[in-house]
Amino acid sequence: MSKKTLKVGLIGLGWMGRLHTRSYKQLAERFPELNVQTELFTACDAQEENRRIAVEELGYKKAVSDYREVMADPQVDIVSICAPNFLHKEIALAAAAAGKPFWIEKPMGVCAEESAQIALAAQKAGVATAVGFNYRHTPAVEKAREIVRAGRIGRITNVRAWLIADYASNPDGPLTWRYDTKRAGAGVIPDLMCHGADLIQYILGDRISRLCASTGIFINERPIPTKEGVGHTGWEVSDRKGKVDNEDYVAALIELSAGAIGTLESSRVANGPRAEYIVEIYGTEGSLRWNFEFLNDLWVCLAKDREFTGYKRVMAGPDFPNFLRFQPGAGTSMGFDDMKAVEAAQFVSSVIDGAQNAPSVGDGWAAAEVGDAMVRSVSSGAWETVRQVSVPTTFEK
Ligand SMILES: NC(=O)c1ccc[n+]([C@@H]2O[C@H](COP(=O)([O-])OP(=O)(O)OC[C@H]3O[C@@H](n4cnc5c(N)ncnc54)[C@H](O)[C@@H]3O)[C@@H](O)[C@H]2O)c1
Repeated sequence: MSKKTLKVGLIGLGWMGRLHTRSYKQLAERFPELNVQTELFTACDAQEENRRIAVEELGYKKAVSDYREVMADPQVDIVSICAPNFLHKEIALAAAAAGKPFWIEKPMGVCAEESAQIALAAQKAGVATAVGFNYRHTPAVEKAREIVRAGRIGRITNVRAWLIADYASNPDGPLTWRYDTKRAGAGVIPDLMCHGADLIQYILGDRISRLCASTGIFINERPIPTKEGVGHTGWEVSDRKGKVDNEDYVAALIELSAGAIGTLESSRVANGPRAEYIVEIYGTEGSLRWNFEFLNDLWVCLAKDREFTGYKRVMAGPDFPNFLRFQPGAGTSMGFDDMKAVEAAQFVSSVIDGAQNAPSVGDGWAAAEVGDAMVRSVSSGAWETVRQVSVPTTFEK
């Protein structure tokens, strides 16, 4: 049977845009059962150099500077939205209006209100979606979810997630769009913490319902860029400095609907940890621990094992979800790009079979509401209720 071809339109060719591109390229090889191939059709970026790279190096048929051309083209079947946060809402609403399924990077927009608009528009248009909650797709995280959902560590009592990074720890680093409330929304809350909120909700299948948060800005100004880079690197800066106006650090106490309590913490300016993203789940009969820096490992303690009590390091292997698609041998570690390939497959399979297999706009909106409650808690100095979302989530499946 001949493969179905989906033509891709991608907006924003920075770090994530290039990664979405690589992920589409892997689909036919890693997920042959989908019987799909993607055609890199149109790339859109504001920078001329990125448009050149799109065609000459990445293999897109053409590159344009206005995303509306992508939406107006009836040949484009699916859209990737990888532009900075402040553009997410208008691009996603345009995709929904054009009836194009979209894979959007987190956070969906600059605040929960924008996430809500995106989620409701997608729901109304009936288009499949995916949201960039890539850490979910690590085989060890999927295994953790299976263990929790099967009740193997008992009733979940408490959780901890911390996402401590150093990507912004150098005060001479450029004042990119990420430090500007108008273009990013809040700071480390939507940039990193949202992944932690999603991981907890995904593994437990439960919603964060209430929280109390505190934030800090530790580097108050940064050099103004003269040339844009990709992600956190490659930027050039001037001698002039501008103000950082969103938080570098957040810490929160959280409560979940089913009764578990815990903490969420995130920093972008740590000295020491590089990308230490850890989730710990504690239950009445055991506990689990996963650290992105060693993403192939899951630490498991089943309390009934009284003789050798304590954590056991379990390395992902062919018996873990999706592992065999990437490596034939246990202990051969997967990488960040592989998670995104899984996400691409979930997105494309959602487009083909009409089911919502990938993290959805409901999940994106739910994580944004956690972030919004943190922002409100910082200003009220009190516990805040997390507003619940009205479109389906996948973490509650
Ligand atoms: N899922 C993850 O783990 C993860 C990691 C990093 C970034 N992200 C998210 O991905 C998104 C992009 O982040 P990034 O690090 O790739 O950013 P980036 O700064 O590397 O790239 C952004 C790109 O968008 C382009 N752009 C800007 N304005 C545009 C416009 N009007 N039309 C078309 N293109 C435009 C820029 O020229 C640039 O190439 C953000 O929402 C970010 O939060 C997610």
